Amino acid sequence: MDKKFYITTPIYYVNDVAHIGHAYTTVSADCLARYKRQKGYKVLFLTGTDEHGQKVEKAAAAIGKTPQELADTVVVRFQELWKTLNISNDDFIRTTEDRHKVAVTKLWKEVAAAGDIYLGDYEGLYCTPCENFLTEMQLDDKGNCPDCARAVEPLKESSYFFRLSKYGEALLRHIEETPDCLGPKVRRNEITSFLREGLHDISISRTSFSWGVPVPTDGSAISEGSDHIMYVWFEALTNYLTATGYPDEKYKEFWPADVHVVGKDIIRFHAVYWPAFLMAAGIEVPRKVFAHGWWTVEGEKMSKSKGNVADPFKICADYGVDQFRYFLMREIPFGGDGDFSIDALKGRINSELANDLGNLLSRTVSMIVKYRDGVSPKRCGAVESPELEGVLQNEFKKLAAAIDGHYSELSFSRALEDIWKVVRELNGYVDKSAPWQVAKSGDDDALSNILYTLREGLRIVAVYVYPFMPEAAGNIWHQIGIEKSIAESSFDEEIVWGQESTDGKVTKGAALFPRIEEAKV
Ligand code: ME8
Repeated sequence: MDKKFYITTPIYYVNDVAHIGHAYTTVSADCLARYKRQKGYKVLFLTGTDEHGQKVEKAAAAIGKTPQELADTVVVRFQELWKTLNISNDDFIRTTEDRHKVAVTKLWKEVAAAGDIYLGDYEGLYCTPCENFLTEMQLDDKGNCPDCARAVEPLKESSYFFRLSKYGEALLRHIEETPDCLGPKVRRNEITSFLREGLHDISISRTSFSWGVPVPTDGSAISEGSDHIMYVWFEALTNYLTATGYPDEKYKEFWPADVHVVGKDIIRFHAVYWPAFLMAAGIEVPRKVFAHGWWTVEGEKMSKSKGNVADPFKICADYGVDQFRYFLMREIPFGGDGDFSIDALKGRINSELANDLGNLLSRTVSMIVKYRDGVSPKRCGAVESPELEGVLQNEFKKLAAAIDGHYSELSFSRALEDIWKVVRELNGYVDKSAPWQVAKSGDDDALSNILYTLREGLRIVAVYVYPFMPEAAGNIWHQIGIEKSIAESSFDEEIVWGQESTDGKVTKGAALFPRIEEAKV
């Protein structure tokens, strides 16, 4: 059987511009998807847009558009951003698509048939920006939404309820038995305590507005309903099933999802509501939900009113796509919070990208061009300095042993740290083996060995770098004369040290990562 891997991002609301936070989640998922493809997995990588709900309806009304018109405009910006960021998603889902209506209607009916949906009255508070029902107890000390600090609105309407209270025990057991299903640990603890407090049934339909998928009227447990639309979170979460082909049986090819990557703001929806809906419908729960932290920008919370929303299009145009991807994945351990600043971005570009990796490439290529006229050196019998090369190969072995663990823990920054240990080791090797002196001494074999070692090191480094910086990795291969596609190469085969050099010529290209000069900052 094929090894498969199903990874998702949240589907983003279309009432807002795409910003660095959205870019972060999607880039992280892209890195993992690319790594899994390198490892030979058949990958389904899904992203998309969340187009229904009161918040979108209100945003559209405010600018005199229909919600569909608003969605049709904003979705293009998201799609452009993913193109700009070199995101390799296999599917893009919009919740206004028919396939989604079919899936979510079916899921509703399954949950209803299990007896877990009933009609009642909802009387309480609602936070429209978060599309979240709240109790008095949950409000912050100013009486606002605890998540976004904005005002909540009283709400009274007839509503369908989901028997969430029935699933508390099962959810707790699931987390205890498979702790890996929820990360990082701080979120697991947060959800565990939330579950221990006991769950209340939740309202899953609305009648006060109409921008959504109608509640089906022909389900056995449902006596009325045409004036109800589904609560946007019930509907939105189901997108993960829709994209697998649900309700067609083929959905089992990719379901259950291997990982839902989300921001910490929406962990409860993913780690409590979603598995409960699935349990009710008798569908397997996702294997893992992982919540990353939040970015501030130049030390401040991003907000439209402050006008400090970091625009990923602009950052890419000013500093480069791979540079931005690298920074996002390297700057903060995945799961924690962090700050985005142009100074920090520039610092990493100049030191880790331009100095460490870019220089290594340009030194290696220049020497092969200078001493060997661009012909890749073959490995020779005698090794000039076994202790130096031995140390290097040992570093590569350590990296190979550690990398898969980093990816399974979504520890992207640690993966990059380990890759950079090897990059630095290779730079150190250039200095210690001093090929320019060996060239003067006329020891041809020794020089070939050094050049071979450097080229081989770079060849393998590019394979490790690829998920994070696909363009740069391809560029490295190209400059060292490898013609095949790095995207289509097998990770396990390519990271083996000691391969024969190909016949492609080593050619000097433009700087891999141009230094950012002070003037630009
Ligand atoms: O919540 N730092 O959509 P959304 C890091 N439609 N990540 C951030 C961020 C920040 N400052 N701001 C936003 C929704 N994000 C729902 C999801 S899923 C079935 C439905 C990221 O457009 C983070 O991933 O508000 C967060 O979870 C997501 O954007 C919220 O996007």
